[in-house]
Amino acid sequence: IQWYPGHMAKAQKQIKERLKAVDLILEIVDARVPESSINPMIQELGQNKPILLIMNKADMADPRRTQQWIETFKKRGITAIALDAQHKAKLPMIEKVAQEILAEKLAKKRAKGIRNPVIRAMCVGVPNVGKSTILNRLVQKNIAVTGNRPGVTKNQQWLKAGQTLELLDTPGVLWPKFEDPTIGSKLALTGAISDAIYHPDDVVIFALEHFKEYYSSQLQKVYKVTDAELEEPAAELIMILTKRLGFKEDYDRFCVKFINDARQGKLGRFTLDVVPVEAS
Ligand code: GTP
Repeated sequence: IQWYPGHMAKAQKQIKERLKAVDLILEIVDARVPESSINPMIQELGQNKPILLIMNKADMADPRRTQQWIETFKKRGITAIALDAQHKAKLPMIEKVAQEILAEKLAKKRAKGIRNPVIRAMCVGVPNVGKSTILNRLVQKNIAVTGNRPGVTKNQQWLKAGQTLELLDTPGVLWPKFEDPTIGSKLALTGAISDAIYHPDDVVIFALEHFKEYYSSQLQKVYKVTDAELEEPAAELIMILTKRLGFKEDYDRFCVKFINDARQGKLGRFTLDVVPVEAS
């Protein structure tokens, strides 16, 4: 997806409309970039409805930082959970936490005589964070919920996604943050922004600096980077590694390979959003 202002405005309007019908917003982010992949406008779009932040792809993220981010979000008043949507056993956690977030509202409904109050939710998130994967794995045999369910436009359905959880049948694709080139590099490396709008060398320079500082042993293992080479600036290291891999002076080829390696988990687990000092 290429995001142009007109496109963004349209997506914004549609998602706002659809979110009117939900009790809870399931915002999916990539656990490797939990802060950078949050949509800047979700609170406003959701008209301050409760949000459950799902840090997906936790299997690819740095587990220590994942835990620190969960605590950081908690301090900011946001409930976040780590998830690996590929492992089905963890999925029921979403419903459980959703019930906790909405406990007061559900209790009120029970007091009014509704025995099993339903939670209606919608998955939203920037591209490639795993929205469809989560949705498909949560919904049980694609059973549409029939009966009177107001607030949804004609072509949409609620799907049963748990004992009390119902999900809108299509996730909302949100636009990423653009304001800062560092965020752009992070989102490119994890695949949330399309290949056409970034330069591989910018992304890899950023990523190599980050890996040198925090994940140097992974660089040493995968690309046989020596201790001395770790002292080199990233641009220099790109030249060294391009040669080492037999790509001669084709630096772009190395950069593209590096990005693919990172996306495929070949560089090991990493998190690019550094946890703010007060939380660590
Ligand atoms: P868009 O349609 O682009 O908005 O993507 P999406 O957010 O719906 O993501 P999708 O579910 O298509 O997943 C993107 C890729 O990530 C797929 O290749 C999934 O298999 C993979 N994926 C999803 N969840 C996880 C996860 O928890 N761990 C890992 N390792 N991969 C995941």
